[in-house]
Amino acid sequence: AEEPITDLLDRLAAVVPDYPSPGISFKDLTPVFADAAGLKRIVDEVIAPFAGEYDVIAGLEARGFVLAAAGAYAAGTGMVTLRKKGKLPREVHAEEYLLEYGTATLELHQDDIAPGSRVLILDDVLATGGTVGAAVRLIERAGGVVAGVGVILELDGLGGRSRLAPHRVHTLQRV
Ligand code: PRP
Repeated sequence: AEEPITDLLDRLAAVVPDYPSPGISFKDLTPVFADAAGLKRIVDEVIAPFAGEYDVIAGLEARGFVLAAAGAYAAGTGMVTLRKKGKLPREVHAEEYLLEYGTATLELHQDDIAPGSRVLILDDVLATGGTVGAAVRLIERAGGVVAGVGVILELDGLGGRSRLAPHRVHTLQRV
């Protein structure tokens, strides 16, 4: 039988104690990305529930790019990059979001999403939902329709899922 996805993540993800600050235990997905079977499983499973419901996949800089590019290639769609401020060379929409200390800005080229196009958003981790929330606003300003949100890890107790309602959120593991 196929290994359950949560077992695969427990086996391959690296837990880093006291990172990025004391008392925080960080689950590092880079060993999952680096594993041939691991990368294939997480990408296939994060996009699976949305089959037939999206036209393009959006990835959030930086770790979301890994998932979105692989997912788009597997699904036969294009991939759109939502980037940190100042990285995109043409006209952008910009949306600010809250960090633990201060704010950050995410940007999207104004013409990278075809009007009415259904967009699946992928990222590695959902925490407060601030980052994905900014992505939702950018996609809607650009004329797209959010088809759903897929993440590998969802951190419980930070309100991310409710912040994104009514959008559908699919998570491979809650931590
Ligand atoms: C991390 C993570 C998500 C976001 C989740 O990205 O990759 O994008 O935080 O947090 P939130 O739900 O509270 O917004 P980070 O900003 O560290 O950027 P990086 O991927 O470029 O390192």
